[in-house]
Amino acid sequence: MRPVGTLVVALVCFVLGALAQRSYDTHRPTQPSSVAQPSAPIEPSPPPAGAPAPVPFTAIQFDREPLWAYGFDRPPQPGERAAPQAPPSDALRTDQSAEEQTRPQRIPGSRAAFSLLQIRDAQHVVDWFPEDHPPMPDVIDHGPARLGALRRGCAQCHLPNGKGRPENAQPAGLAAAYIVRQIQDFRGGLRYSADPRKPNTNTMIELARAMSAAELRAAADYFSSLRFTPWVRVVETDLVPKTRIDGNLFLPVEQGRTEPIAGRIIEVPEDQEQSETYRNPHSGFVAYVPVGSVAKGRDLVTTGGMRVSGDHIVPGKTTACVTCHGSDLRGVGDVPPLAGRSPSYTVRQLWDFQQGTRRGELSALMRMVVANLTDEDLVDIAAYIATCPPAAEAAATRVERAAGPN
Ligand code: HEC
Ligand code: HEC
Repeated sequence: MRPVGTLVVALVCFVLGALAQRSYDTHRPTQPSSVAQPSAPIEPSPPPAGAPAPVPFTAIQFDREPLWAYGFDRPPQPGERAAPQAPPSDALRTDQSAEEQTRPQRIPGSRAAFSLLQIRDAQHVVDWFPEDHPPMPDVIDHGPARLGALRRGCAQCHLPNGKGRPENAQPAGLAAAYIVRQIQDFRGGLRYSADPRKPNTNTMIELARAMSAAELRAAADYFSSLRFTPWVRVVETDLVPKTRIDGNLFLPVEQGRTEPIAGRIIEVPEDQEQSETYRNPHSGFVAYVPVGSVAKGRDLVTTGGMRVSGDHIVPGKTTACVTCHGSDLRGVGDVPPLAGRSPSYTVRQLWDFQQGTRRGELSALMRMVVANLTDEDLVDIAAYIATCPPAAEAAATRVERAAGPN
């Protein structure tokens, strides 16, 4: 077993060295960029001076892209890119009556009441369950002050409890140092979406650039103080509901399951009305994953695919994820936790690492890890990770088999 022991020690030393460097970096004051008061939708700005050149469109393997992980159903055309997201608005919509949009709405278990108009206003995030979390700092509720009329509260996308949604991210329970590093990577052109059509990652980048040092500290402290608890129910199945895509999120259009899963992961809200209409932060998601993927993923995550043959060790195609992310996948230092997180998000990150659009300082470790992984491996790994309990007292590994014809 000696070669494996040496490898683990070498990796751990590498990680610790890198972490020490980052711990120093994250304590340095951050340099907010200067952003004027804009009045039109946020245009994605070019990477700052000194940033590495973006990966050319032709260098990204769109023929292999896990489209579902990005919320698309066909690959992009050359030059196709995301339109800027509409600015936050508290105006009435024309497709619904004013009465319907202004009357108070309620959700189960909450004492609060908010109108649809309030729920949609990204600049004043509604808080159905204030007792779930510490008071939201200004930036979490309203967004970076420097953006003026274009401010968006972090909690509009990531929810006040930080558990997020498949099309964005789940900052709850991440180490503050890791959060600071990601924001710096977004700012510096070191983290962006491999799919140029994904609009909300561009918005995230603009928000990262607009945040002051104090807002970044407040946001990192807030999200890192929140506990990430079970949020995704994993169901192995051959058939999924037919879906439509709205804002890069899959929504079922049928009750039953009639469409072949075809090697994808399809993640949908448990209750579409609660997630979409009310932004209920207690209403989670269900991830349909291919039959057998969880067991194959467990093998890769825990061994990297390494085998012992007689007295020989046959190296696997990757390094066991548990080496760095912890035996329970709940993170070690500022190596982020993975357990129980959205499998669409996980695959998107692994693909971004593979294509080189996630290339911050510590990403070199991950780029080695993903170098030899196939699309099927990414699905298997993400499916397994999503079944792992994110917190000690959470139920043991949860995976359901679809009932009936699956
Ligand atoms: C418009 C929606 C939106 C808003 C508002 C938003 N984010 Fe994000 N955030 C995203 C998306 C999209 C990603 C990246 C997803 C991806 O790369 O696939 C992201 C990723 C992140 C990550 C990385 C998480 C990880 O696990 O690596 C952090 C940290 C984060 N956001 C913090 C913030 C903070 C702080 C704010 C408020 C200033 C904020 N976000 C506001 C959409 C949003
Ligand atoms: C050698 C150490 C190491 C190994 C092994 C490793 N990781 Fe990582 N991983 C990291 C580090 C460090 C980061 C943070 C990278 C950054 O800051 O951009 C990371 C980040 C990630 C992220 C992004 C999380 C987020 O919130 O955005 C995912 C997903 C991930 N790893 C999955 C895996 C999987 C799956 C495996 C096994 C196949 C694995 N990692 C193996 C060190 C490692």
